[in-house]
Amino acid sequence: MPTTKRRQLLANALCAAALSTTTISACSATPASDAIIEPVASIPALNARARRRGMFYGAAVNHEALIKDPATMARVDAECGMVVGEASFKWEAVHPAANRYDFSQSDALLAWATKHEIRTRGHALVWHEANPEWLTSTINSGNAEKLLTDHIKTVAGRYAKRLAHWDVVNEALDDVPGRQPLGLRDTIWLRALGPAYLDIAFHATAAADPQALRVLNDYGTDYTIPWQERKRAAMLELLSTLMHRGVPIQAVGLQAHLDAAEITLDQKVLSRFVADIASMGLKVIVTELDVRDDRLPADIPSRDIAVADHAKAWLDAVLPNPAVLGVLTWGLSDRHSWLNTKFPRPDGLRQRPLPLDEELNRKKLWSALAT
Ligand code: XIL
Repeated sequence: MPTTKRRQLLANALCAAALSTTTISACSATPASDAIIEPVASIPALNARARRRGMFYGAAVNHEALIKDPATMARVDAECGMVVGEASFKWEAVHPAANRYDFSQSDALLAWATKHEIRTRGHALVWHEANPEWLTSTINSGNAEKLLTDHIKTVAGRYAKRLAHWDVVNEALDDVPGRQPLGLRDTIWLRALGPAYLDIAFHATAAADPQALRVLNDYGTDYTIPWQERKRAAMLELLSTLMHRGVPIQAVGLQAHLDAAEITLDQKVLSRFVADIASMGLKVIVTELDVRDDRLPADIPSRDIAVADHAKAWLDAVLPNPAVLGVLTWGLSDRHSWLNTKFPRPDGLRQRPLPLDEELNRKKLWSALAT
C-alpha cells in the first residue's frame, strides 16, 4: 500500500477514535499532503471528507438541473451523500389542485438519488411560500387541520422509510418577533390554527413516517445584528415550549444563507446558540448554506476568497458541536443559484455563492467545506 494512502487510513482511524470521544475538531487536522489524495471513484468527495468527521455533505437539486444538466448531476453524484429538492417536494409541486397530487418531480429526484445511493431529505411540509392558490383561497379555521393532516399523510406517507429527514415546518419564526405568540410568523396556518399548527404538523409527520428525522428549519440566526439576536432568542423559546408540550421535533435546520459582506459574525455567539439547541437533546443540520456576494466588488479571485473565508468562520463555530449531523449547500454549482434572482448583483455579474463555479470547477468554498 502506498505510504500516503496508509497515512490517510491512519488519519481516518484517528478521526473515528476522536469522534467516539466527541472531539470532532481533531479530524480537521488532516495534513495538507493527504488532502490531495483523491477518494476512490465510488466515494463522493465532499461527502467522504464530511464522513471522516462523522457528518455528511449534500446539496439542493433543482428540477431543471435534474432533467437537463447531466454534467451538474454527475458532480452532485461525485460530491454528495444527500440531496434535497429545491422545489420538488413543496406544496405547489406536489399538490397543485385540491383533489390532485403530482409526484412527478419528487419521484424523479428520489429515483435518481436512490440509483446513485444518495440519501434524500424532504422539504417542506409547511411553509408560508410555494403554496398553491387553491390552498390560500380555501383555507379557514374549520378545514385547516384536515387540509394539513391529509397533505402530510399523503406526501410523507408516500415516501415513508425512504427519506432521511423532513423539514416539517419551514421558517415558522417572524423576522420581527413579538407581533404574534411565540415570535411566530403570521401565515395561513397560524391564522387558521394558532401555534397548534406546529404540534399538528409534527405529530402527523411522526405518524406518517416515523423514520424520517423531523426538522424545524429556519434562517436569520447567523449574525449579531438586532433582528437576528431576537430571532435566536425566539427560536430557543419556541423549541423549549414545543419540547415541553411533547411535540415530536428532533432537529433544527439552520439554513445558513450567509452574506460575505456582513461583519457581525460572532463565533462565540454562534457556537453558544448551537450548544443551547443541542442541550435540549436536539440535532442540528446545516440545511441551505450559500454565501451571497452582491455587496462585494466584482474581482472574482477576491470574491471567492471572501466567500470561502466567511463560510469557514461560520462553519468553524458550528461544526465542532457533536449534535451537528451534516451540511447541505443550496445548490452545488454557481450555475444554479436562487441568489441571482433573489439578490441580483448591481453590476449584473452573476453571484458565486456555491462550492463549484459555472464550469463545475472546485472553488475556495469547496476547500473550506473539505477541511
Ligand atoms: C427557494 C428556491 O431556491 C427558489 O428557486 C424558489 O423560487 C423559492 O424558494 N429558504 C428555503 C428554500 O427554505 O425553500 C428557498 O428556496 C430559499 C430560502
